[in-house]
Amino acid sequence: MNTPPTKFTKSTPGQAAGKKLWGGRFSAPTAADMEAFNASIHFDRRLLPYDVTVSTVYARMLQRLGLLDEQECERICTALGRLEEEAAAGVRRWDTALEDVHTHVEVWLVEAVGEAGRKLHAGRSRNDLVVTSMRLYLRDQLDEIDATLNRLLEVLIELAEREADSVMPGYTHLQTAQPVTFGHHMLAWFEMLLRDRGRLRDCRRRADVLPLGAAALAGSGFPLDRAWLAAELGFSAYTENSLDAISDRDCFIEFVAAAAMLMMHLSRCSEELVLWSSHPFAFVELPDAYCTGSSIMPQKKNPDAAELVRGKSGRVYGSLLSLLTMMKAQPLAYNRDNQEDKEPFFDCADTLRDCLRIYAGMLPGMQVRRERLREAAEQGYSNATEVADYLVRKGVPFRDAHEAVGGVVRRALKKGRPLAELSLAELQQAHPAMEEDIYDCLRLEAAVGARDLPGGTAPGQVRKALERARRRLRAP
Ligand code: ARG
Repeated sequence: MNTPPTKFTKSTPGQAAGKKLWGGRFSAPTAADMEAFNASIHFDRRLLPYDVTVSTVYARMLQRLGLLDEQECERICTALGRLEEEAAAGVRRWDTALEDVHTHVEVWLVEAVGEAGRKLHAGRSRNDLVVTSMRLYLRDQLDEIDATLNRLLEVLIELAEREADSVMPGYTHLQTAQPVTFGHHMLAWFEMLLRDRGRLRDCRRRADVLPLGAAALAGSGFPLDRAWLAAELGFSAYTENSLDAISDRDCFIEFVAAAAMLMMHLSRCSEELVLWSSHPFAFVELPDAYCTGSSIMPQKKNPDAAELVRGKSGRVYGSLLSLLTMMKAQPLAYNRDNQEDKEPFFDCADTLRDCLRIYAGMLPGMQVRRERLREAAEQGYSNATEVADYLVRKGVPFRDAHEAVGGVVRRALKKGRPLAELSLAELQQAHPAMEEDIYDCLRLEAAVGARDLPGGTAPGQVRKALERARRRLRAP
């Protein structure tokens, strides 16, 4: 996680009891290890600006209801506006005894404005406060992720355009299958990631609903204007059911699920980059800025960025499993289990942001070694299907053509020669329908050029797909 280390004050149990928001009901202090176990401030303090935003709007709502006077409201809003800066400057101290960020905001507010601060929590609960703050946080994360993902998609379009004619071997089972173009391969990555963008945008639409007003579980005891609260906080709607509102974690889980899918895609891309940059392939050269060396082997240049992304997919899948398991046996409504939602959620957002940024930074500097792509495509009989298709065009049933070409490949393999180096007589041994023009079909350009239908690898089709890709990238 990218938050800097912070010093936490440790109150003695006696002192802490006085600071608790729920101390009245209790006669014995919290055990020291329970206090530490209970606290989430180490990780939820990143929600501070979001709690401040929600609390500020909420104070205005209370003023509209006559529960705060104008002066109290102004003092509260001004004090809230300073908390972030004061916490950074150490004027306000983080304290494990204060459990979570929401308790800190309230206690600090009372420190700052006295009595008036004690009025702010009327008609709300940490239960609706925490999910409202988290939704605001999620929204910001999604916007940042969307922007970086768009940059990456743009990079893929540029690469595809540059390499629209570069022929490389296409693989199935990691065995040479048929030639494709590098541009077509980049557009395959584009499709995967564009679907991920759609999933994240769907998630944002469902997260765009205000839970505030649900209070502890049954709804606020005061007639809050929820439409006004939603508009002030930039939500499109408010939640329909208070029990659901405070116990629902779907949008965070949905985010992590979409992130897991995206990381799975980036991990597949990474696997290819690792292979392509390794010696037997040598299809690409990754930029030095995103590789590292070995402390013992001077010749090494390792694709660490790609490997780290591949490795980090594991922690995002782990986050998804944590969240699903955390939720699965919870009765309505709020349960403290939900405090466990934050670390996997935050870690997932951090990891995804980092991985996307690294990819968007690394790919523009990737050198594509066209001569190596071509060399590899010329080996491995990637044009064998062309010969079968040629025979089909001469009226031979495909199954017979397949059988005949299989025989030619077997003989060519024995001689260690590519198909194009066999004589016409040798080719005709396989099937008499072969004529001189078969050699045109054996060229790599002919093989890719023949895949000339929408979605196919022919360079002309790749260019048309690129045009559509550009439009789809701009679409909402
Ligand atoms: N820190 C808590 C959480 O993250 C806030 C809600 C606490 N609510 C409660 N009833 N204890 O979920």
